[in-house]
Amino acid sequence: MEYSIFMVLNADKISQQCLPKHVAIIMDGNGRWAQAKNRPRVYGHKKGVDAVRHSVQFCTKLKIESLTLFAFSSENWHRPEDEVSTLMELFLYVLSKEVKKLHKNNVKLTIIGDLSRFSEALRSKVDAAHELTANNTGLQLNVAANYGGRWDMTNAAKQVAKKVAAGAINPDDITEQVLAAHMSMQDQAEPDLLIRTGGDLRISNFLLWQAAYAELYFTDTLWPDFNEAAFADAIACYVARERRFGCTGEQIKQLLAET
Ligand code: IPE
Ligand code: IPE
Ligand code: MG
Repeated sequence: MEYSIFMVLNADKISQQCLPKHVAIIMDGNGRWAQAKNRPRVYGHKKGVDAVRHSVQFCTKLKIESLTLFAFSSENWHRPEDEVSTLMELFLYVLSKEVKKLHKNNVKLTIIGDLSRFSEALRSKVDAAHELTANNTGLQLNVAANYGGRWDMTNAAKQVAKKVAAGAINPDDITEQVLAAHMSMQDQAEPDLLIRTGGDLRISNFLLWQAAYAELYFTDTLWPDFNEAAFADAIACYVARERRFGCTGEQIKQLLAET
């Protein structure tokens, strides 16, 4: 019989409580996937959109609160010009075609990252998508575009510095909570599970602050091949792990026994 995370859920062996509230994914391997098929890299990016659709459906079925997808990093501008412009066109296309569907499925879409470098057309599509889905109560889908973890922290520091300069905050009152409140996705649970497809073992400047305690899961599967079964494997691996948050295993067991 085919393994399914839903069978496990239905069997009530794991409850919703055991599932991650927030999953973040570094969607890597599109170029290599296409090259292996003797196709241009951009073909892989186009196929990658199908994998995005499947992941959104999977998280909706599992009632996961937030899904954050790394679509374009601050460093991806260094790629060949035609690849960058194809990615921008694809982004524009997806925002035009998919947002209505997301809205129908009660998904709330948020684009995180430094949007100032994007075209006017792209920025107005982003605004329209935010506005349309703002009151949806289903999956919170964050798409990171021109995002970098260092940019996020710098941006938060800049906002806090402005408040200090205006006399609204005393420098001695700057705590981790204050900085966290100025970071992307500050209103959401922090990622519990960070997945990277494509076989590389690095973070590539993704959620440096928010993923401080995320469980890391790396898979050789290239992003366009990342289907429901592959996602279920990642969830199953997460569920089996013991998260200690700096405590001892015994302390965690005691805490779980008390709740
Ligand atoms: C990830 O796939 C998508 C983006 C970074 C936009 P890549 O394009 O990095 O694919 P590989 O890693 O070169 O195979
Ligand atoms: C990370 O993938 C960024 C995205 C998935 C958008 P990259 O392919 O850009 O990362 P590196 O260059 O291998 O670190
Ligand atoms: Mg890559």
